[in-house]
Amino acid sequence: MKLIRRGAEGDIFFTTWNGQKAILKSRKKKDYRNSSLDYRLRKQRTIRESQIMSEVKEFGIHAPLIHFVDIKNCNIIMQKIDGVLVRDLPNSNLVNSCKKIGRLVGTMHKNGIAHGDLTTSNFIISKENIFIIDFGLASRTLKSDDHAVDLRLFKEILNSAHADVFERAWSNFLSGYKSSVGKERFAKITNKVMIIESRGRYARVV
Ligand SMILES: Nc1ncnc2c1ncn2[C@@H]1O[C@H](COP(=O)(O)OP(=O)(O)O)[C@@H](O)[C@H]1O
Ligand SMILES: [Mg+2]
Repeated sequence: MKLIRRGAEGDIFFTTWNGQKAILKSRKKKDYRNSSLDYRLRKQRTIRESQIMSEVKEFGIHAPLIHFVDIKNCNIIMQKIDGVLVRDLPNSNLVNSCKKIGRLVGTMHKNGIAHGDLTTSNFIISKENIFIIDFGLASRTLKSDDHAVDLRLFKEILNSAHADVFERAWSNFLSGYKSSVGKERFAKITNKVMIIESRGRYARVV
């Protein structure tokens, strides 16, 4: 088995499952965390990731197929998605994809799922489709605050990792998001994003 990424959350290995290319995501023990808390968190995230990754498919989101879950050892084997991370796209493609990403995030929110870690490394473009991965921090929630936190994180990532196209990418994301959730909900959530941001500024000033 080949290690392809040692992530913050878990190690990612390339493997096979019934002859198909697959990914093993393994959440290893973190020594800096109290061991029973650590085990609880790893187990909880493994369960969440596998459950929510399957749930989102019911409302048309593309996500890897879960092949096998070993809760005790915090391992998930899932379909490998061949494609390019949105993070690595050339600028013009990245800007375009943000509209679709906004639409997908809106679809998840409308269906009561907040992703919890919306970064451009958690979207894979495969042929014409955008796959969403990394659901370990996802939650079932219809609360506008939780949805606003998702938007705020994505905005921050665009602003730091894709600063040169930030304005266009963010405005595309918003228009996609609005087309999914509708005008009223859009106004409510974006207002919350503004509130979160103003709190951040205030916190930095004092
Ligand atoms: N199912 C998958 N198919 C293809 N690549 C994947 C898959 N799952 C993870 N990866 C790759 O591994 C990276 C890290 O996986 P991810 O689930 O996002 O964990 P982390 O919590 O470490 O960010 C992703 O950004 C992606 O490049
Ligand atoms: Mg990730």
